[in-house]
Amino acid sequence: MLSDISFKNYKKSEDIHGTILYPAIMVAPVQKNIISDLMRREDIQSVFDPFHGSGTALYEAAQLAHEIQIVGCDINPLANLITKVKLQGVDQNIREDILQLKDMLSSHGKKYNYTFPNMYKWLREDIVASLSRIRDAIIEISNEQNRLFFWYMLCDIIRKYSNTRSSTYKLHIKEIEKIQSIDNDVVKSYISAIDNNADKFKHNTWNFTLHKCDILDLLPKLNAASFDLSITSPPYGDNATTVPYGQFSMLALHTIDKKDLELEGWEFENYSIIDSKSLGGKKRNANLSPYQMSLLEPFLSKIAPAKHRKVLVFFEDYFKFLDGLCRVTKKYIALTLGNRTVDRVSINLTDITKQYLETKKFQKLVHATREIPIKRTPKVTSLVYEKPVSSMNHEFIMIYEKERFVA
Ligand SMILES: C[S@@+](CC[C@H](N)C(=O)[O-])C[C@H]1O[C@@H](n2cnc3c(N)ncnc32)[C@H](O)[C@@H]1O
Repeated sequence: MLSDISFKNYKKSEDIHGTILYPAIMVAPVQKNIISDLMRREDIQSVFDPFHGSGTALYEAAQLAHEIQIVGCDINPLANLITKVKLQGVDQNIREDILQLKDMLSSHGKKYNYTFPNMYKWLREDIVASLSRIRDAIIEISNEQNRLFFWYMLCDIIRKYSNTRSSTYKLHIKEIEKIQSIDNDVVKSYISAIDNNADKFKHNTWNFTLHKCDILDLLPKLNAASFDLSITSPPYGDNATTVPYGQFSMLALHTIDKKDLELEGWEFENYSIIDSKSLGGKKRNANLSPYQMSLLEPFLSKIAPAKHRKVLVFFEDYFKFLDGLCRVTKKYIALTLGNRTVDRVSINLTDITKQYLETKKFQKLVHATREIPIKRTPKVTSLVYEKPVSSMNHEFIMIYEKERFVA
């Protein structure tokens, strides 16, 4: 099983996954191999990704078997939109709608309100004007499937022409000279993005349910053994100090018409609220069982006490997630994990997860390590006690089988 996972020559620019940027996405052919290998081994009727992000695994599952049930969850409304668009694709009238959009972009149609807090900090005034024109045109597209595709294609354009640096997923302002030197080709770039990419969205999948919420709220509502395969890459630490998926998404979320987003109502309270509501993000005291504490002790003993709370809060959520995941999974769990460093101590998420799953009656099928060839997060992320701290540059793939399926 899983004979090749390196895919060193895989270029996501050639498929649908390269049509949008999202942090820490999984490598599509690796996920495809996992799913197809498991499908050969066992009848898989349903696939669940509890942290679907940009929908890599769910899309690959849907391509492998159109009839299977696809279920996902993510707290980030941008992840929800991205995955929805990848799965449902575009309507057959997409070329007519592209023509209509281009027509509206060259005329002066109805103007809709477009403003958000600190808008001109993150977008130059003329860039706002160009984005507004595109936004006004998209709102006028009546076909929802195509309209959502048009929003999707706008996300990378917003980021590219914004005042935030491309070297980090955080919102981090560029130097003033760099902001002044941005060439405003917003409309032209957008038109070529939709023209060049629309054909990648011709596969339509409808047998899917995406939950836009906190996975810890969703899991207790799901029936036991609901999914044959659960496949995901969970966050490997709190978003604020690992990958800020929420902050990364805010400029796009503020630009997309709210009517076209799945929202719970709190998402725009501030720029970091999605991150602080994500796994391990809520500030509180954690309460872990003695067994859970025993898994963390080897790491905590080397970490400064002031940093314990951050680790404990994350793992309280993470173990709750694993408890729920084991309950709702009928046959297989496939995880892509990374280890993170706190206080120069690498926290072995893989080993902690392995031990935990084994107590939940899941047996190891495969463990594999994959080097991450290209990374936006710099290999050295911060300085602790004046020494550089390296960030994750390997990912670990773990496939587990529920014990009662073992012959
Ligand atoms: C590693 S990313 C998943 C990337 C995805 N596998 C892909 O290929 O794009 C982790 C995701 O978990 C989501 N997330 C974090 N905490 C969450 C929570 N409590 N409930 C639901 N989703 C959460 C983040 O918004 C992010 O999209």
